[in-house]
Amino acid sequence: MFEARGENGLGGAYAALRLYAAARNTGRRLGQRLDTAIGDLLFAVTTAGEKDLITAACYSTTSHTRGDGRQTLFDWEQKWYARRLPPPPARILVPGAGWGREMAALRAQGYTVCGFDPVESSADLRPKETQFVRGDFREWVDAVAGSDMSSPLGRLCETPFDAVILGWSSLSHVLSGDLRLQIFETAAACAPDGPILASFWCRPDEQIPVRSQSRQRLIQLADRLAHLRGLSPDPTTDFVFSPTHGFGVYLTLEEFEGIAARLGREVYMETEPVPRVTLGRCAPVAESHTSKEIE
Ligand SMILES: C[S@@+](CC[C@H](N)C(=O)[O-])C[C@H]1O[C@@H](n2cnc3c(N)ncnc32)[C@H](O)[C@@H]1O
Repeated sequence: MFEARGENGLGGAYAALRLYAAARNTGRRLGQRLDTAIGDLLFAVTTAGEKDLITAACYSTTSHTRGDGRQTLFDWEQKWYARRLPPPPARILVPGAGWGREMAALRAQGYTVCGFDPVESSADLRPKETQFVRGDFREWVDAVAGSDMSSPLGRLCETPFDAVILGWSSLSHVLSGDLRLQIFETAAACAPDGPILASFWCRPDEQIPVRSQSRQRLIQLADRLAHLRGLSPDPTTDFVFSPTHGFGVYLTLEEFEGIAARLGREVYMETEPVPRVTLGRCAPVAESHTSKEIE
Protein backbone atom coordinates (compact mmCIF):
# COMPACT_ATOMS: atom_id res chain seq x y z
CA MET A 1 0.00 0.00 0.00
CA PHE A 2 2.67 2.43 1.12
CA GLU A 3 4.91 1.54 -1.84
CA ALA A 4 1.98 2.02 -4.18
CA ARG A 5 1.59 5.60 -2.95
CA GLY A 6 5.33 6.09 -3.38
CA GLU A 7 5.05 5.06 -7.00
CA ASN A 8 2.58 7.87 -7.52
CA GLY A 9 5.08 10.32 -6.12
CA LEU A 10 2.94 10.81 -3.00
CA GLY A 11 5.06 8.70 -0.63
CA GLY A 12 6.31 11.66 1.40
CA ALA A 13 2.87 13.17 1.91
CA TYR A 14 1.37 9.77 2.69
CA ALA A 15 4.06 8.99 5.28
CA ALA A 16 3.67 12.43 6.87
CA LEU A 17 -0.08 12.01 7.12
CA ARG A 18 0.32 8.55 8.67
CA LEU A 19 2.72 10.00 11.22
CA TYR A 20 0.30 12.81 12.02
CA ALA A 21 -2.66 10.40 12.37
CA ALA A 22 -0.66 8.00 14.57
CA ALA A 23 0.48 10.85 16.84
CA ARG A 24 -3.03 12.30 17.11
CA ASN A 25 -4.59 8.92 17.83
CA THR A 26 -1.98 8.13 20.46
CA GLY A 27 -2.48 11.58 21.96
CA ARG A 28 -6.25 11.07 22.10
CA ARG A 29 -5.88 7.65 23.78
CA LEU A 30 -3.38 9.03 26.30
CA GLY A 31 -5.69 11.98 26.92
CA GLN A 32 -8.61 9.66 27.64
CA ARG A 33 -6.49 7.61 30.04
CA LEU A 34 -5.35 10.76 31.77
CA ASP A 35 -8.97 11.95 32.10
CA THR A 36 -9.96 8.59 33.61
CA ALA A 37 -7.03 8.64 36.05
CA ILE A 38 -7.66 12.23 37.12
CA GLY A 39 -11.38 11.47 37.45
CA ASP A 40 -10.72 8.41 39.64
CA LEU A 41 -8.37 10.39 41.85
CA LEU A 42 -10.64 13.44 42.18
CA PHE A 43 -13.73 11.32 42.72
CA ALA A 44 -12.11 9.57 45.68
CA VAL A 45 -10.51 12.53 47.44
CA THR A 46 -13.28 15.13 47.19
CA THR A 47 -16.55 15.78 49.01
CA ALA A 48 -19.87 16.03 47.15
CA GLY A 49 -19.70 19.84 47.24
CA GLU A 50 -16.14 19.81 45.88
CA LYS A 51 -17.20 17.52 43.03
CA ASP A 52 -19.93 20.03 42.12
CA LEU A 53 -17.29 22.77 42.04
CA ILE A 54 -15.06 20.65 39.80
CA THR A 55 -17.95 20.07 37.40
CA ALA A 56 -18.77 23.77 37.37
CA ALA A 57 -15.10 24.60 36.74
CA CYS A 58 -15.07 22.23 33.74
CA TYR A 59 -18.31 23.68 32.32
CA SER A 60 -17.00 27.21 32.71
CA THR A 61 -14.44 26.39 30.00
CA THR A 62 -16.99 25.16 27.43
CA SER A 63 -19.42 27.20 25.37
CA HIS A 64 -21.75 24.63 23.84
CA THR A 65 -24.87 25.82 25.68
CA ARG A 66 -24.86 29.47 24.70
CA GLY A 67 -28.12 31.34 24.54
CA ASP A 68 -27.21 34.03 22.02
CA GLY A 69 -28.95 32.17 19.19
CA ARG A 70 -25.88 30.35 17.84
CA GLN A 71 -27.06 27.09 19.41
CA THR A 72 -30.63 25.90 19.44
CA LEU A 73 -32.79 22.86 20.21
CA PHE A 74 -31.99 19.44 18.81
CA ASP A 75 -34.62 17.84 16.65
CA TRP A 76 -35.60 15.36 19.42
CA GLU A 77 -35.99 18.24 21.87
CA GLN A 78 -38.17 20.24 19.49
CA LYS A 79 -40.56 17.29 19.14
CA TRP A 80 -40.45 16.41 22.83
CA TYR A 81 -41.23 19.94 23.98
CA ALA A 82 -43.93 20.38 21.34
CA ARG A 83 -45.66 17.23 22.64
CA ARG A 84 -45.18 17.60 26.38
CA LEU A 85 -45.05 21.28 27.28
CA PRO A 86 -48.12 23.41 27.85
CA PRO A 87 -48.46 26.02 25.08
CA PRO A 88 -46.85 29.50 25.26
CA PRO A 89 -46.87 31.82 27.12
CA ALA A 90 -46.55 29.17 29.87
CA ARG A 91 -43.92 29.90 32.53
CA ILE A 92 -41.01 27.44 32.26
CA LEU A 93 -38.15 26.84 34.73
CA VAL A 94 -34.88 25.45 33.38
CA PRO A 95 -32.56 24.28 36.21
CA GLY A 96 -29.02 23.57 34.99
CA ALA A 97 -29.69 25.94 32.10
CA GLY A 98 -26.06 26.40 31.10
CA TRP A 99 -25.69 29.60 29.18
CA GLY A 100 -29.30 29.49 28.02
CA ARG A 101 -29.48 27.44 24.81
CA GLU A 102 -32.95 26.03 25.60
CA MET A 103 -34.07 29.22 27.33
CA ALA A 104 -33.44 31.24 24.16
CA ALA A 105 -35.26 28.74 21.92
CA LEU A 106 -38.25 28.56 24.25
CA ARG A 107 -38.38 32.33 24.61
CA ALA A 108 -38.42 32.60 20.80
CA GLN A 109 -41.50 30.35 20.85
CA GLY A 110 -43.25 32.77 23.18
CA TYR A 111 -42.65 31.08 26.54
CA THR A 112 -41.86 32.96 29.73
CA VAL A 113 -38.51 31.44 30.72
CA CYS A 114 -36.44 31.43 33.92
CA GLY A 115 -33.32 29.39 34.54
CA PHE A 116 -30.38 28.88 36.83
CA ASP A 117 -26.95 27.35 36.61
CA PRO A 118 -23.85 27.35 38.82
CA VAL A 119 -21.87 28.69 35.87
CA GLU A 120 -22.72 32.22 34.85
CA SER A 121 -21.83 33.30 31.33
CA SER A 122 -21.18 36.81 30.16
CA ALA A 123 -24.40 38.74 29.56
CA ASP A 124 -23.94 38.81 25.76
CA LEU A 125 -24.06 34.98 25.60
CA ARG A 126 -27.27 34.72 27.65
CA PRO A 127 -30.73 34.91 26.05
CA LYS A 128 -32.57 38.20 26.05
CA GLU A 129 -35.96 38.62 27.78
CA THR A 130 -35.39 35.72 30.16
CA GLN A 131 -34.51 35.61 33.83
CA PHE A 132 -31.25 33.92 34.86
CA VAL A 133 -30.02 33.30 38.39
CA ARG A 134 -26.70 31.84 39.41
CA GLY A 135 -27.19 28.79 41.62
CA ASP A 136 -27.00 25.01 41.76
CA PHE A 137 -29.41 22.16 42.43
CA ARG A 138 -28.60 21.93 46.15
CA GLU A 139 -29.18 25.64 46.67
CA TRP A 140 -32.47 25.39 44.76
CA VAL A 141 -33.68 22.41 46.84
CA ASP A 142 -32.78 24.23 50.07
CA ALA A 143 -34.26 27.58 48.98
CA VAL A 144 -37.61 26.06 47.97
CA ALA A 145 -37.82 23.72 50.98
CA GLY A 146 -37.11 26.63 53.34
CA SER A 147 -39.21 29.14 51.34
CA ASP A 148 -36.06 31.27 51.58
CA MET A 149 -36.99 34.62 50.05
CA SER A 150 -33.56 36.03 50.89
CA SER A 151 -32.17 33.73 48.18
CA PRO A 152 -32.57 34.68 44.49
CA LEU A 153 -33.59 31.07 43.80
CA GLY A 154 -36.28 31.22 46.48
CA ARG A 155 -37.64 34.45 44.98
CA LEU A 156 -37.49 33.01 41.46
CA CYS A 157 -39.70 30.11 42.55
CA GLU A 158 -42.18 32.11 44.59
CA THR A 159 -44.59 32.20 41.62
CA PRO A 160 -45.54 28.70 40.39
CA PHE A 161 -44.21 27.45 37.05
CA ASP A 162 -46.19 25.62 34.39
CA ALA A 163 -43.34 23.16 33.66
CA VAL A 164 -39.76 22.33 34.68
CA ILE A 165 -37.11 21.15 32.19
CA LEU A 166 -34.02 19.31 33.48
CA GLY A 167 -32.62 19.35 30.00
CA TRP A 168 -29.78 17.85 28.01
CA SER A 169 -28.40 15.81 30.87
CA SER A 170 -28.01 18.46 33.56
CA LEU A 171 -29.51 15.82 35.89
CA SER A 172 -26.64 13.44 35.09
CA HIS A 173 -24.31 15.71 37.02
CA VAL A 174 -26.17 14.92 40.23
CA LEU A 175 -24.21 11.99 41.63
CA SER A 176 -26.48 11.29 44.62
CA GLY A 177 -29.73 9.41 44.12
CA ASP A 178 -31.17 11.08 47.25
CA LEU A 179 -30.49 14.52 45.79
CA ARG A 180 -32.02 13.49 42.44
CA LEU A 181 -35.22 12.56 44.29
CA GLN A 182 -35.16 15.89 46.16
CA ILE A 183 -34.71 17.70 42.84
CA PHE A 184 -37.88 16.09 41.50
CA GLU A 185 -39.74 16.89 44.73
CA THR A 186 -38.61 20.49 44.37
CA ALA A 187 -39.58 20.57 40.69
CA ALA A 188 -43.03 19.23 41.64
CA ALA A 189 -43.36 21.93 44.31
CA CYS A 190 -42.39 24.60 41.75
CA ALA A 191 -44.74 23.29 39.03
CA PRO A 192 -47.54 21.60 40.99
CA ASP A 193 -49.82 21.39 37.97
CA GLY A 194 -47.27 21.05 35.19
CA PRO A 195 -44.97 18.41 33.71
CA ILE A 196 -41.34 17.79 34.68
CA LEU A 197 -39.15 16.88 31.72
CA ALA A 198 -35.72 15.31 32.22
CA SER A 199 -33.14 13.96 29.78
CA PHE A 200 -30.07 12.13 31.05
CA TRP A 201 -27.17 9.77 30.32
CA CYS A 202 -28.01 6.10 30.25
CA ARG A 203 -25.93 3.17 29.03
CA PRO A 204 -26.68 -0.46 28.36
CA ASP A 205 -25.14 -2.85 30.90
CA GLU A 206 -22.94 -4.50 28.31
CA GLN A 207 -21.07 -1.21 27.78
CA ILE A 208 -19.87 -0.95 31.39
CA PRO A 209 -16.08 -0.88 30.96
CA VAL A 210 -13.89 -3.47 32.63
CA ARG A 211 -11.32 -1.79 34.87
CA SER A 212 -7.69 -2.56 33.99
CA GLN A 213 -5.30 -3.66 36.74
CA SER A 214 -3.43 -0.37 36.64
CA ARG A 215 -6.72 1.50 37.01
CA GLN A 216 -7.69 -0.66 39.96
CA ARG A 217 -4.32 0.06 41.60
CA LEU A 218 -4.80 3.79 41.12
CA ILE A 219 -8.30 3.58 42.63
CA GLN A 220 -6.88 1.73 45.66
CA LEU A 221 -4.26 4.46 46.08
CA ALA A 222 -6.94 7.17 45.69
CA ASP A 223 -9.09 5.43 48.30
CA ARG A 224 -6.19 5.44 50.77
CA LEU A 225 -5.74 9.19 50.16
CA ALA A 226 -9.48 9.67 50.66
CA HIS A 227 -9.33 7.91 54.04
CA LEU A 228 -6.61 10.36 55.10
CA ARG A 229 -9.23 13.09 54.50
CA GLY A 230 -11.85 11.09 56.40
CA LEU A 231 -13.79 10.31 53.21
CA SER A 232 -15.23 6.94 52.10
CA PRO A 233 -15.79 7.00 48.34
CA ASP A 234 -18.79 5.02 47.17
CA PRO A 235 -17.40 2.24 44.92
CA THR A 236 -20.84 1.56 43.41
CA THR A 237 -21.24 4.98 41.76
CA ASP A 238 -21.03 4.47 37.99
CA PHE A 239 -19.43 7.82 37.26
CA VAL A 240 -17.45 9.24 34.39
CA PHE A 241 -15.22 12.29 34.29
CA SER A 242 -14.20 14.51 31.41
CA PRO A 243 -12.60 17.94 31.38
CA THR A 244 -15.54 19.29 29.36
CA HIS A 245 -18.37 17.92 31.54
CA GLY A 246 -16.79 17.26 34.93
CA PHE A 247 -18.41 14.41 36.85
CA GLY A 248 -21.49 12.62 35.59
CA VAL A 249 -23.41 9.44 36.27
CA TYR A 250 -25.37 7.07 34.09
CA LEU A 251 -28.97 6.79 35.24
CA THR A 252 -31.53 4.07 34.69
CA LEU A 253 -35.08 4.52 33.50
CA GLU A 254 -36.20 2.36 36.44
CA GLU A 255 -35.10 5.09 38.86
CA PHE A 256 -37.73 7.40 37.39
CA GLU A 257 -40.52 4.90 37.92
CA GLY A 258 -39.70 5.06 41.64
CA ILE A 259 -39.54 8.85 41.64
CA ALA A 260 -42.84 9.13 39.74
CA ALA A 261 -44.50 6.74 42.20
CA ARG A 262 -43.22 8.83 45.14
CA LEU A 263 -44.64 11.98 43.55
CA GLY A 264 -47.88 10.33 42.48
CA ARG A 265 -47.28 11.28 38.85
CA GLU A 266 -47.45 9.39 35.59
CA VAL A 267 -44.15 8.68 33.84
CA TYR A 268 -43.70 8.79 30.06
CA MET A 269 -40.43 7.30 28.82
CA GLU A 270 -38.69 7.82 25.52
CA THR A 271 -35.31 6.35 24.70
CA GLU A 272 -34.22 7.38 21.21
CA PRO A 273 -32.04 9.16 20.37
CA VAL A 274 -31.58 10.43 23.95
CA PRO A 275 -33.11 8.82 27.05
CA ARG A 276 -35.71 11.08 28.62
CA VAL A 277 -38.75 11.02 30.86
CA THR A 278 -41.72 13.26 31.42
CA LEU A 279 -43.37 13.12 34.83
CA GLY A 280 -46.88 14.05 33.97
CA ARG A 281 -49.55 16.32 34.62
CA CYS A 282 -49.51 16.39 30.84
CA ALA A 283 -51.95 15.31 28.19
CA PRO A 284 -51.58 11.54 27.59
CA VAL A 285 -50.09 10.77 24.19
CA ALA A 286 -50.34 7.82 21.89
CA GLU A 287 -47.06 6.14 22.86
CA SER A 288 -46.75 3.69 25.69
CA HIS A 289 -45.90 5.20 29.04
CA THR A 290 -44.90 2.05 30.83
CA SER A 291 -41.49 0.61 31.62
CA LYS A 292 -41.90 -1.76 28.68
CA GLU A 293 -40.15 0.85 26.54
CA ILE A 294 -36.95 0.15 28.44
CA GLU A 295 -36.71 -3.39 27.11
C1 LIG B 1 -25.00 19.59 29.11
S1 LIG B 1 -25.22 21.06 30.00
C2 LIG B 1 -26.89 21.43 29.60
C3 LIG B 1 -27.18 22.89 29.72
C4 LIG B 1 -28.56 23.31 29.22
N1 LIG B 1 -29.62 22.64 29.97
C5 LIG B 1 -28.71 23.01 27.75
O1 LIG B 1 -29.39 22.04 27.42
O2 LIG B 1 -28.12 23.71 26.94
C6 LIG B 1 -25.35 20.56 31.69
C7 LIG B 1 -25.49 21.74 32.64
O3 LIG B 1 -25.66 21.25 33.96
C8 LIG B 1 -25.06 22.19 34.81
N2 LIG B 1 -24.79 21.62 36.13
C9 LIG B 1 -23.80 20.80 36.48
N3 LIG B 1 -23.84 20.57 37.80
C10 LIG B 1 -24.91 21.24 38.29
C11 LIG B 1 -25.47 21.42 39.58
N4 LIG B 1 -24.94 20.82 40.66
N5 LIG B 1 -26.56 22.20 39.72
C12 LIG B 1 -27.12 22.80 38.64
N6 LIG B 1 -26.60 22.68 37.38
C13 LIG B 1 -25.52 21.92 37.21
C14 LIG B 1 -23.79 22.57 34.10
O4 LIG B 1 -23.22 23.80 34.58
C15 LIG B 1 -24.28 22.66 32.66
O5 LIG B 1 -24.65 23.95 32.32
